[in-house]
Amino acid sequence: MGKIAKLVIDGKTYELPIVTGTEGERAIDISNLRKETGLITLDPGYANTGSCESSITFMDGEKGILRYRGIPVEQLAEYSTFVETAYLLINGDLPSAKELNRFSVMLNDHSLVHEDMRAFFENFPRRAHPMGILSSMVNAMRAFYPELPERSDEEEINITFARLLSKVRTMAAISYKISRGHKVVYPRHNLSYCANFLNMMFDSPVRPYIIDQDLVQALEVFWILHADHEQNCSTAAVRLVGSARVNLYAAISAGICALWGPLHGGANQAVIEMLQEIYESGGDPAPFIAKARDPNDPFRLMGFGHRVYKTYDPRALIMKKMCDKVLKKLKRHDPLLDIAKKLEEVAIKDPYFIDHNLYPNVDFYSGIVLRAIGIPLNMFTVMFAIGRLPGWISQWKESLDDPHWKLHRPRQVYIGPKKRDYISKKERGFPV
Ligand code: ACO
Repeated sequence: MGKIAKLVIDGKTYELPIVTGTEGERAIDISNLRKETGLITLDPGYANTGSCESSITFMDGEKGILRYRGIPVEQLAEYSTFVETAYLLINGDLPSAKELNRFSVMLNDHSLVHEDMRAFFENFPRRAHPMGILSSMVNAMRAFYPELPERSDEEEINITFARLLSKVRTMAAISYKISRGHKVVYPRHNLSYCANFLNMMFDSPVRPYIIDQDLVQALEVFWILHADHEQNCSTAAVRLVGSARVNLYAAISAGICALWGPLHGGANQAVIEMLQEIYESGGDPAPFIAKARDPNDPFRLMGFGHRVYKTYDPRALIMKKMCDKVLKKLKRHDPLLDIAKKLEEVAIKDPYFIDHNLYPNVDFYSGIVLRAIGIPLNMFTVMFAIGRLPGWISQWKESLDDPHWKLHRPRQVYIGPKKRDYISKKERGFPV
């Protein structure tokens, strides 16, 4: 008999099973709680609620550990590529040479975007945020790529995965080119996934883009580090929307919308805006730290703090080293990196940040890397979205195969008015 937790309500004892994960994490299984007790749990923001069992990503927020399918993210950043990591997340194991080749061929075959979709890009206002454009375009993909009835479910699903991974990257580059009024650059079959993206972004008929392998490597690492993060806000959105058994494009589109927020993926843009503000105000981070500490001021230090990590985000450590490496290679100095390092140095010694366990998260240094690569600020969160796609896809796939699958439908504790009668328009003073 497994371990149990005991719950006493009005003198009656209920026994609830304790579930233990492979890394020793424990959870009380309350799936029969309401049926047995008539009560529900209340957990705003789901900080104490596990919504599923998952075998994709393991995080230990106290120790700063992140592993995809058991493999430490540090090793993947050092030895793997984004495409290989995507395969690992989606399929559960690293690919053989043959499998990786087949996967790469599929990504290449599905990299073009339907020409009729270009009209959409061209008709968005020039100042539209690329995340809004991306979520709309991904949702619209269903109309252009409907289910293929002659294919098996598995084939259809694999093609949908390849389309998303490959076309979203192409669409991101197209939206950038169109926003600048420049000629669209098509993907090339002889370039890797990351090199292709950089080429589509920056190649021009008057200035051919010279691919720098160090920048390609920086992008590989950036995308590997963003590839999954278990049940974060956007992934939870993908699972929740997907739980209604809507098509994958719609579920991913919901994830993109959730990621857009400045408390989530939008933080990478917000960090650079904050660092720029500190720079323009003379470079002293102290007043910003004082504002973040002030309980009467809603300001937060962007790129600091995390729902799960109560120590340094392991991805931020890798990203910080990457900043130095990329800037050194480019022989460039970025004053925002100096400010970021100064800010971190002061903040991590500050009692408020120590007491609240606030450390740099992945977004704190990632924007400096993106700036060095040449990515414009309003595309930062789009870069995050491309990186997070394998995670969203693998989590959606896992939920599809989950024997305990259920429509996501949380409950609530109602605190509104008790039953009352409708007041006629006449009594409310409307002209009769
Ligand atoms: N600056 C100042 N104070 C902060 C910060 C911050 N960045 N983050 C949290 N706090 C404080 C809160 O004010 C609160 O203080 P209090 O208890 O004294 O009232 C306490 O820490 C807990 O904050 P919560 O918002 O309850 O913690 P939660 O786990 O919900 O927050 C979050 C996580 C949203 C990421 C938060 O740390 C934050 O807003 N950070 C800044 C935005 C950011 O960098 N987001 C990216 C996260 S990583 C990602 O999504 C990829």
